[in-house]
Amino acid sequence: MRANPHFQKLPAGYLFPEIGRRVRAYTAAHPDARVIRLGIGDVTEPLAPAIIAAMHAAVDEMAVRESFRGYGPEQGYDFLVEAIREHDYRARGVEVAADEIFVSDGSKCDSGNLQELFAADAVIAVTDPVYPVYVDSNVMAGRTGSPGPDGRYPGLVYLPSTAANGFCPAPPDRGADVVYLCSPNNPTGAVMTRDDLTAWVAWAHQHDALIVFDAAYEAYIQDPTLPRSIFEIAGAREVAVEMRSFSKRAGFTGVRCGFLVVPKELRAVGAGGEPVSLNAMWSRRHTTKFNGASYVVQRGAAAVYTPDGLAQTGAQIAFYMENARILRDGLARAGFTVFGGQHAPYIWLETPPGTTSWQFFDQLLDRAHLVGTPGSGFGPNGEGFFRLSAFNSRDNVEEAVVRLARVFG
Ligand code: MLT
Repeated sequence: MRANPHFQKLPAGYLFPEIGRRVRAYTAAHPDARVIRLGIGDVTEPLAPAIIAAMHAAVDEMAVRESFRGYGPEQGYDFLVEAIREHDYRARGVEVAADEIFVSDGSKCDSGNLQELFAADAVIAVTDPVYPVYVDSNVMAGRTGSPGPDGRYPGLVYLPSTAANGFCPAPPDRGADVVYLCSPNNPTGAVMTRDDLTAWVAWAHQHDALIVFDAAYEAYIQDPTLPRSIFEIAGAREVAVEMRSFSKRAGFTGVRCGFLVVPKELRAVGAGGEPVSLNAMWSRRHTTKFNGASYVVQRGAAAVYTPDGLAQTGAQIAFYMENARILRDGLARAGFTVFGGQHAPYIWLETPPGTTSWQFFDQLLDRAHLVGTPGSGFGPNGEGFFRLSAFNSRDNVEEAVVRLARVFG
């Protein structure tokens, strides 16, 4: 068979496996180094007791003929969908219908799968730096040329996220078919205000564009006046879909559960110029290619919304945000310019003058035995920056700060 030629345009390895490979090579050569990993944003705290209890009970149900469950509804069980509607949306004054919520095995899959709904030649806009999945999945689908010497893929519209624009680029003068927006942002930790989102919703209406809003980190927003959902913005239901995840909010990176909200007002343009419903298209895709997140996992996710679940997961988020504060303060004391970490579990720092982000990765690993993520791995405009994750034990975060002060302070 002939292979999909577009894969040849991608670098050989996805960013995080590549970092893992380099760290394994380093630790093999330096077996005594006690390496602290602040690279991939992977949670470290065990699942909250309320979630564990719900999952145990669900396993017990599966052990008995009367309560055993086989295939579930592809879109998700009512008990989870109703909890999402109530706590994530109605509590913030947003009405989302049950058949607009599609429970899945996580946002990474949703963000990659969603591009199947776009025309083969759709014009895609991304912020730069950006979560690599948005770019790589569209490269795989053939919506770009091969990357140029600057690492940019012809055919994509890049929106530079810089310190000057607070890492929240404004809408461009031109249109696009789709824009991916992530707030709180991975990797920069920046958060979009109501005004920022309002401007994007107006732009999408003006250009008949779709906003793919990634809210995987919304639970880390500390200021209650900041929007957590794009559907808090008037007019967003006609132009946006929203991704949510239990990974960072409730420690589900290994359990896997998320959901996509696709409003029924959303229309794309069909082959004959007729309006087509994205909700109907996604429903067709989801029910054709996915048999639903597992019952046990969905019971665990629903437990996040119980009083105990909310209190316990809230405490975990507060714990990680205290880690973020310790890292921010420690980095600032060591002389670094730092961004993010106030409404997000990521700290975005400037590398020392004249040091590329991969050079800084090597220095940090070699001299401080710390692992982070080079900014250039998130896009050409991430060069000169570096991401540290706040997901770790308190002891490791405190030790990381001591090492940063020793090596760079
Ligand atoms: C990251 O480190 O950027 C995240 O873990 C990626 C993800 O959520 O897939």
